[in-house]
Amino acid sequence: MRTIKLAAIGCGNRTTVYANLVKQIAGEKFKITALADPVKERRDEIAGYEKTAEIRHFDSADEFLKQEKMADAVIIGTQDDYHFNPAMGALKKGYDIILEKPISNNLEEVLILDRTARELNRKVIVCHVLRYTPFYNKVKEVIESGLIGEIVTVNASEGVGTWHMAHSFVRGKWADTEKSSPMILAKSCHDMDILSWLVQKKCLAVSSFGGLEFFREQNAPPNAPFRCIDGCPVAESCQYNALLYMNEQRVPWLSVVFDPESMKKNQGGASDDEIRKWLETSPWGRCVYHCDNNAVDHQVVTMSFEDGITATFTMTAFDEGRNIEICGTKGTLKGGTYTQKITSHDLVFYDNRYGKITTWDIEVESGGNDSHVGGDLGFVSMLYEELTAEDPSLMRSSIHESVESHVMAWGAEISRKENRVVELKELVKKMEL
Ligand SMILES: NC(=O)c1ccc[n+]([C@@H]2O[C@H](COP(=O)([O-])OP(=O)(O)OC[C@H]3O[C@@H](n4cnc5c(N)ncnc54)[C@H](O)[C@@H]3O)[C@@H](O)[C@H]2O)c1
Repeated sequence: MRTIKLAAIGCGNRTTVYANLVKQIAGEKFKITALADPVKERRDEIAGYEKTAEIRHFDSADEFLKQEKMADAVIIGTQDDYHFNPAMGALKKGYDIILEKPISNNLEEVLILDRTARELNRKVIVCHVLRYTPFYNKVKEVIESGLIGEIVTVNASEGVGTWHMAHSFVRGKWADTEKSSPMILAKSCHDMDILSWLVQKKCLAVSSFGGLEFFREQNAPPNAPFRCIDGCPVAESCQYNALLYMNEQRVPWLSVVFDPESMKKNQGGASDDEIRKWLETSPWGRCVYHCDNNAVDHQVVTMSFEDGITATFTMTAFDEGRNIEICGTKGTLKGGTYTQKITSHDLVFYDNRYGKITTWDIEVESGGNDSHVGGDLGFVSMLYEELTAEDPSLMRSSIHESVESHVMAWGAEISRKENRVVELKELVKKMEL
């Protein structure tokens, strides 16, 4: 069996998750040969998974890309605004790529990367990990079995969850969409991707509404200070109190943003005093009503697909988990967090003709980010097969497939901002001029 040499550009949270899973489940198939990140501790953490191999370290993507090719594939796990340059550089150097989503936070760059990958005949796998979850694979299997008939409508939703919203999209790295990406791309390109994967038809047009309503200055309780640590009058009852990083919100949130060296010294557990100090200066110590955020906290998208299929998608900060309802000509398939809560089954089908109910309970092995419900583990389990496949079109989440979700997301964002229906063909045509 051929060993695949892997390198990584950006050794933060996501790359660490993948490298850790590679070590756990496919260590003999992969070998990490090079790591690029300005933060040495992050490189060291990943290098620690590969005790025997020689690993070359670089301070930046540029330094790494100046060298001769030193791996078969490179993981690109930098932030949203820095995917395009390293990805183009890596393609030109002859690497296949495991590219974090979004492909880029600029649609034109998305199209250029797709075209370049095809011209150079390189594989680019986009980390749309939901395609690798047992849940969505079961949904796809049921659709393809013909049980529900022809799909007519789909309603899907994603509840981001209040703490996740506050952590990532109010206080955190995706709060300012100018520096990162619009919410519908940053968070929900997964959902656009799953919809297009399940429907298996082209999305023709989208419209969208939404905005930032809650996490704003005018909703701050009277006398709430800029930082929670400065003694807030509603500290006890506020679900967003940053002091919760010391206890109930410590795992998994703190470790992905807290200084890694300090976490390591304390075997993963920073002391309360260290966290208090951090809350005095860190963006994660700010009151959620006094941040510089502009990411929307709710958005709805309506979609028109080929063959008259329609779909809706709602992203909201104020619910938790994903839900899907697919109405076919023979009946309705419902699944996700809400269905699980009220029926104790993950997926339920109601047959229109016979009134028969079929249910499915889906087992998920843990590994990676739990909110990805087995997607990280599924993704890494398939990685070797996908990188060695002769035919790149067999990749489940190729850049070519993923472009569709990015076009849908950009169409939705333009629609939301300009209050109009966006024809996706026109949007792409404009970009390609
Ligand atoms: N697939 C998913 O479900 C999923 C989930 C969360 C995040 N993401 C995406 O993954 C990407 C990474 O997110 P993250 O949470 O791991 O971010 P992170 O901030 O933890 O990691 C980014 C890393 O890039 C490094 N970096 C910065 N400049 C660099 C340079 N010039 N050269 C090399 N490295 C550099 C940083 O030091 C940091 O370690 C983002 O685009 C994010 O949107 C995907």
